[in-house]
Amino acid sequence: MILVTGGTGLVGSHLLYELTLKNQAIKATYRTKESLMAVKRVFSYFTKNVDELFEKIQWIQADITDVPSLEDAFKDVTLVYHAAALVSFNPKEYRAMRQVNIEGTANIVNYCIANKVIKLCFVSSIATIDNAINKKEVTEENEWNPETSNSCYAITKHGAEMEVWRASQEGVDVVIVNPGVILGAGFWNINTGQLFSKIAKGFSFYTEGVTGFVGVSDVAKAMITLTEQPIKNERFILVSENKSFKAIFTLIAKALGKKPPSIKVSKFFSSALRIFDGWISFITQKKRLITKESEKSMHSKTYYSSEKIKQMTDFKFEPIEQVVKETGTNYRKDKN
Ligand SMILES: NC(=O)c1ccc[n+]([C@@H]2O[C@H](COP(=O)([O-])OP(=O)(O)OC[C@H]3O[C@@H](n4cnc5c(N)ncnc54)[C@H](OP(=O)(O)O)[C@@H]3O)[C@@H](O)[C@H]2O)c1
Repeated sequence: MILVTGGTGLVGSHLLYELTLKNQAIKATYRTKESLMAVKRVFSYFTKNVDELFEKIQWIQADITDVPSLEDAFKDVTLVYHAAALVSFNPKEYRAMRQVNIEGTANIVNYCIANKVIKLCFVSSIATIDNAINKKEVTEENEWNPETSNSCYAITKHGAEMEVWRASQEGVDVVIVNPGVILGAGFWNINTGQLFSKIAKGFSFYTEGVTGFVGVSDVAKAMITLTEQPIKNERFILVSENKSFKAIFTLIAKALGKKPPSIKVSKFFSSALRIFDGWISFITQKKRLITKESEKSMHSKTYYSSEKIKQMTDFKFEPIEQVVKETGTNYRKDKN
């Protein structure tokens, strides 16, 4: 039996779709009934048999920070995909991120050990990989570097990785994936889905920062590939291509039939915007949109290599232009 945590999120729902095609027994965790609608929406991008596939999943209501709620989820489970997390670049959410990402993962690991789970696949992030070393491309060999100014999110994802390595020492085979920025359909108000919503409304700013991007279906397929093969206690960067934000925003605009972004945001301009955003957030008591952390990542240029997974498994990534085109098509379908 397979267990997916975070089944109602971007990665979890696309992973569940891929798993339902394989006719294996699947359990998945959810927190609220409303979030299950998002899973159905994601399935509808790929199939007309939404309900048939959805009913293959045994849904268990559980919060990974609430230990007893996980008891049922782990019954008869031999393979766990752990995708539940709090994704945020807002330092104000540091405590909450520590609780969900580190303590929540520790709970998952404890259940894996206690229930003799055979394999655990954990979704981490490229945020945990040191990019300060002056190498042309970042690889899995770049260790975590506590000396650099890591984001709160990165610190908590690294803490989660440490918990997962603990599972490997206790006899659970583990695979960690470190995806780049994940692009995909279904969640238009959070994470990268917001890029599509904003550009659809005419957002025309860009920066020249560079990072690694990957399609969500590739993340799901890579996770399945890595758990099906006798690979253990390894981590893998999942990046299809390294691209500038300008290039990505331009592809999104093209996919949505909008004008490409034309106003370059300099470092000075984004600092001013961040300070202004801080005041607005203080006055309105609403979540900050631009933080020092998100601002920094919009300007830095980092190139990631996915050679390891390609060489060990023959995995092939979908080109980012294609990913953006398909995501744009689904955005238009959802919004029309
Ligand atoms: N998005 C990216 O660009 C990106 C890039 C690299 C790595 N990642 C990693 O990929 C994984 C999945 O991210 P995502 O983009 O799919 O995020 P997402 O869409 O925000 O989904 C997060 C999932 O975690 C669940 N969750 C959050 N807190 C929970 C808790 N306390 N107990 C149980 N479930 C909880 C959410 O449930 P609800 O539906 O109830 O909120 C949701 O199902 C994360 O580990 C993230 O760090 C994401």
